Formats: sequence, structure tokens, C-alpha cells
Amino acid sequence: MGLLEDQWGRVANDLRLSLIDKCNLRCTYCMPAEGLDWLGKNELLSASEAVRIADIGVRLLGVREVRFTGGEPLVRADLATILGDLRELHPTLPMSITTNGIGLEKKIDRLVEAGLNRINVSLDTVCPETFAKITRRDRLPHVLRGLEAAAEAGIHPIKINAVLMRGVNDDQAGELLEWSLRHDFQLRFIEQMPLDADHEWTRSGMVTAGEVRDRISEDFDLVPQAEPRGSAPAELWDVYPLGAADAGNPAPILGQVGVIASVTEPFCEACSRTRITADGKIRSCLFSHEETDLMEALRDGSTDERIAEIWQAAMWTKPKAHGQTKVGLGTPEFVQPDRSMSAIGG
Ligand code: GTP
Ligand code: 5AD
Ligand code: SF4
Repeated sequence: MGLLEDQWGRVANDLRLSLIDKCNLRCTYCMPAEGLDWLGKNELLSASEAVRIADIGVRLLGVREVRFTGGEPLVRADLATILGDLRELHPTLPMSITTNGIGLEKKIDRLVEAGLNRINVSLDTVCPETFAKITRRDRLPHVLRGLEAAAEAGIHPIKINAVLMRGVNDDQAGELLEWSLRHDFQLRFIEQMPLDADHEWTRSGMVTAGEVRDRISEDFDLVPQAEPRGSAPAELWDVYPLGAADAGNPAPILGQVGVIASVTEPFCEACSRTRITADGKIRSCLFSHEETDLMEALRDGSTDERIAEIWQAAMWTKPKAHGQTKVGLGTPEFVQPDRSMSAIGG
């Protein structure tokens, strides 16, 4: 039928489909302590609706990969069913989840069997006290067990998403990298974006990608990866022991580290994402102020072609950049969207 093109010449072929707004953590940069007004069961996409959306994306609109998000996607009891049903329709489609890892330990085998290919796990620290402070829950061991189980199940690469916050965990960047390299996880530091429910984000409070690079360069040598990153959000660096990268001999590479500099080095121009929220709304951008409802069409007997048309029309108006037409989070023109990260799906 066509592609999910926008008026600025980008094509979205990377679907991020949120399955639930609930989460079992309360990360300060995402959720308020008391949680949010959760969607009712009937307001959420059902398993078959989620599968239908992804199938329409792949079959009619050029979607090439699907990432399931939340809130916390593992909170959905039917996650494996959704993956399995979509896998049956599309045997080679890359399917991934972004998760906090809690509960993965028990579920990973079933998810892999259903067709899950990759996972990205949010983890900002390996210190239990700091973890409890950031997530407002004392559950670090559950996350670590989940990660271990995913590695044992053969998932590779496993990516770790870490948000650094000044005075909270910014002094732990080196430690987290060392730990990730040791476990063969690909760590990516993410600049905190103004998508917290409490609206407390400030540009000056945010730890920048530049600061992250400076900090980890104190402990490791970093060499930019030669391969172009395309529409991937992370800029990747090869990591060597300190002093080894310029020793002139083939140094033992320790692994990679990524930096997702959404705020200071935005990658809107190369963005290939189309997002659907857990209540069936199309969000053409993380920072959109408008959403387009798909739920009604899903439930009123509309054809797949009609649903694809609505989706295409919504993506055509994808904002050019964060600030709608200009790039600039934290500038006076920037207005934070009403929905926070967990409600959008990350
Ligand atoms: P892979 O590269 O396929 O592993 O996934 P990913 O990095 O796109 O997904 P993940 O869910 O792990 O996202 C990592 C971080 O990148 C999150 O903080 C996202 O919000 C951020 N991110 C993902 N897509 C976008 C985007 O379109 N714009 C911006 N500004 N940030 C994004
Ligand atoms: N800024 C940047 N990243 C965030 N995440 C959640 N909230 C924010 C924010 N305000 C990250 C989580 C998760 C991913 C989907 O988004 O760490 O890994
Ligand atoms: Fe939950 Fe992820 Fe938000 Fe943390 S960032 S509260 S793990 S949805």
C-alpha cells in the first residue's frame, strides 16, 4: 500500500508498540511516586488488536521491526501470546522488548520460544541503594537475575539503557561500564529527556553526553565506531583499556559503549520511528502534542486498508524535530508533552 512517509522525507519503518502503561518501578525521571491513573482493561489494546496493528504495519506499510514497550511490557500476562501470534504471521520479523527486567527470569524461555529476538533492559546502577533511590523500589536483585536468565537463554546482544542523574548516579558511570563489559552487555547512556511525569527536568540538571564521554574516558580509551549509525539512536564507541587504543599494536577490545544524546545532539533528521500507545493512539514523535486514534477504527469493523490509511496520514505530519519545527529541548519554545515516558512507551 505504501510507506509511513512524512513531509520532511523520512520513512518510519521501525514500530514501537506500547502494550501497557503500568510499571512495577517508579523511576524518578519517568513516573511519579504514586503511579498514574492506569488505563482500564478495555482501554488497552487487546492481544489480537496489538498483533493486528503490527501485522498491518509489516504487510501494508513497510514496517521492518517491532519493539514492544510499556510501561513495563512484562506486566502484560499475554506478552508471549502476542509475540507468538505475530511470529506465526511473520517468521523473520525482528521482535524486541524494552523492559526493566523484573520477572524476566521466569518468562524468558517462553518469550524466546514465542519468537523474541532481542531485549533492551533499563538499568541505571548496580548499587542496590542507588537503584532503590532512582526506582523507588528495592528490586535490583530481580533485575540482575532477569539479565542473567536472558543471557543464558541466548539473547545477544543485550543492551542496557542507563540514565545518569547529577548527584545520584553520575559518579557510577565507570563502574556500570566495567560491570556491563564484564557481562558482555552493551551499555548505552541516555541523556535524560523532559518526559518525566513530575515535570522537574531542567537542561542544566541533565548530565550531557559530552560529560558522560569525559567521565568514562578517565577509566577507558574510547574510539568512535567506523560504521555509520543510520537511524539508530546511539552513537557507539569501541572501548579499550586505558592507554591501549593508541599503543599502536592490536589492543584487546573490551566491548562497546553507546551514548544516546537526544538532547544535545538530536537525531530527529534520521528518525525512523512510529509509535503506538497502549490505548491505541498513533504518536508520530516522542514529543508530539497530537495523537491520532486507531482504537475506534480497530473496533468498528474498519478494514486493514482503512487502518493503514489513518496511520499513513498521521505519520505524514510527524514533526520535523523535538521543538515541532526546530530542534531544541529545554529552549523557551519547547513545551513538554502531557504524557510522560511510561505512557508514551519510550
Ligand atoms: P535498538 O537500537 O533497536 O536496540 O533500540 P532503541 O535504542 O531504539 O530502543 P530503546 O527502547 O532501548 O530506547 C533507548 C532510548 O532511546 C530510550 O530512552 C528512547 O526513548 C530513546 N529513543 C528511542 N527512540 C527515540 C526517538 O525517536 N527519539 C528520541 N529522542 N529518543 C529515542
Ligand atoms: N529520558 C530519557 N530516557 C528515559 N527513559 C525513561 N524516561 C526517560 C527520560 N525522561 C528510558 C528508560 C528506558 C527507555 C525506554 O527510556 O530508561 O530504558
Ligand atoms: Fe518503569 Fe521504565 Fe518508567 Fe522506570 S523508566 S518507571 S522501569 S516505565
